[in-house]
Amino acid sequence: MPLDLTDLYRRVARVIPPAEWALFTPDIAAIQKLKRERNAVILAHNYQTPEIFHGVADIVGDSLALAREAMRVDADVIVLAGVHFMAETAKLLNPSKTVLIPDTRAGCSLADSITPADIALLRQRYPGVPVVAYVNTSAAVKAASDICCTSGNAKKIVESLGVPEVIMLPDEYLAQNIAAQTKVKVISWAGHCEVHERFTPQEIINLRAAHPGLIVLAHPECPPDVVAQADFAGSTAAMSDYVGREKPARVVLITECSMSDNVAAMHPATDFIRPCNLCPHMKRITLSNIRECLETMQTEVVIDPALIAPARLSVERMLAVS
Ligand code: 13P
Ligand code: SF4
Repeated sequence: MPLDLTDLYRRVARVIPPAEWALFTPDIAAIQKLKRERNAVILAHNYQTPEIFHGVADIVGDSLALAREAMRVDADVIVLAGVHFMAETAKLLNPSKTVLIPDTRAGCSLADSITPADIALLRQRYPGVPVVAYVNTSAAVKAASDICCTSGNAKKIVESLGVPEVIMLPDEYLAQNIAAQTKVKVISWAGHCEVHERFTPQEIINLRAAHPGLIVLAHPECPPDVVAQADFAGSTAAMSDYVGREKPARVVLITECSMSDNVAAMHPATDFIRPCNLCPHMKRITLSNIRECLETMQTEVVIDPALIAPARLSVERMLAVS
């Protein structure tokens, strides 16, 4: 049934001014129609802008939820409103579907920081030590690893292996933050998220001074000294759940910008303080290129057939544990 755009606007009125909404509605209406015609669903990451997240997405969530849901999609077409590794993961888990990404340049500084050749060198240096790859990696890196993890299950995955030592890559800070919570020795790689590495402990100290009673939630891709200043650290979904559960009067999400807009739209009683670090890759996805991708059925995500089975195995091992 076509969605009433006035009803839809009520969901986002807190974060999208009426004049801006008027500019979005032609694309939203066209996308809703194209989804029916193409038998398509849109999976959107929590960092997508609110007109995408609340306006056209069928399934939203963190990387773990998007992977799980991609596997269950029954529609013919999946449009991944997120970055390239997320679209690859969806294709790995549901290979018979047409998976489209609206802009192939939507990359990730973490995924770009490591190659299969780097993993081969690490395996030589640490023989027999299992390699845990963050999902923020290419299919080739997943294929060269033993198991994947996300920010939502990293500790569980590391401990599930029953070994004293693991290599966890490519996010150095996520590895250090997990190492602080487990007895397993974690060998890290020097990759960083260009959004989360910019936060500093002083920024949080300043925010607390300026906003008494502030609750600080941080993503574990932040440096450990930033996480140490937070009241809670967790995946994007865990941060959103925290706000829903604890209903803080005033909160700051130490993560990508759009996340605060999306969560603020759902929790009108909470005051959101919004320092803004944008992910330029996530922001490559727009309503207009989602519309265009459904019109042209471009660009389809294709994975080297030789990588599919080993990369999928790493993701499936993760899903079996979590
Ligand atoms: P999660 O949504 O899995 O916490 O990941 C954050 C992220 O940076 C994805 O690019
Ligand atoms: Fe990659 Fe960081 Fe952007 Fe997520 S926020 S896609 S980890 S660069």
